Amino acid sequence: MKTLSFINLKGGVGKTISAANVAHILATVHGKRVLLVDGDKQGNTSQYFRLYGEQDGTAALLMDPARDVLETIYSTQYKGLDVITSNMDLYAADRAIYEDVERDTSGALKAALRCVGADYDYCVIDNGPAVDTVALNVLMASNDVLIPVRPDDFSFAGMADLVEQIKSAQAENPALNLAGAFFTHWQNRDTFKQARQALEESGLCPVFNTAINYNPKISESTFAGAPLCDFAGRSWAAIQYKKLVAEYLKS
Ligand SMILES: Nc1ncnc2c1ncn2[C@@H]1O[C@H](COP(=O)(O)OP(=O)(O)O)[C@@H](O)[C@H]1O
Ligand SMILES: [Mg+2]
Repeated sequence: MKTLSFINLKGGVGKTISAANVAHILATVHGKRVLLVDGDKQGNTSQYFRLYGEQDGTAALLMDPARDVLETIYSTQYKGLDVITSNMDLYAADRAIYEDVERDTSGALKAALRCVGADYDYCVIDNGPAVDTVALNVLMASNDVLIPVRPDDFSFAGMADLVEQIKSAQAENPALNLAGAFFTHWQNRDTFKQARQALEESGLCPVFNTAINYNPKISESTFAGAPLCDFAGRSWAAIQYKKLVAEYLKS
């Protein structure tokens, strides 16, 4: 099982939409067995697949090393795509782990996912906009990190910090690879092209050729609770996410 996570310290950049749709495309277009992990207490990924609720999910795995992972996995209506959900319990878990100075808990998620490593080809993790104990767990459990960015100046401000965090996590998880950044909310404007050029020239990380255009279908798909290839299969948004996955798989 290869684990890829979508991380950015900023909110609203497209982490959830990207994680959910990349996972859905890996399963339904590429025929992979995919486990999607909701790593954000807001539970948007869980909501997208209409699985948000009180059930145990990521928080339980972080809190209790003996928790049976299989009991936290829910299937979706899509073949090959399962989800471990999140809710506000993740907030409590983060606090409890943070205060527990006795134990090294950063490997909890990795250990839990290892139990189902033979059952899936890919694990895709959505994250909240913070470097908390949950994100640390995710970095320890991941092979590839993808960074969705919105092309504006504020988005870049946190990029150097994020890349620094990833590099320091690599000391403890040598398998961790910064696969690259990709643009979301993209529009063909000169200022956006300059932003892209600036990121490429900064040398911070590789930048994917595929960008995801600004497209209102994306917000609509969240109301519908259906991934793009299902909700609007012929939309640019669906086509571009499929291109992004193909580019990632080739990289
Ligand atoms: N390419 C896009 N075009 C238009 N709206 C988008 C696009 N990507 C994401 N959105 C919308 O922007 C908001 C933030 O996206 P989301 O994936 O929830 O970000 P994050 O998880 O980083 O906070 C959501 O309302 C989503 O529907
Ligand atoms: Mg999100």
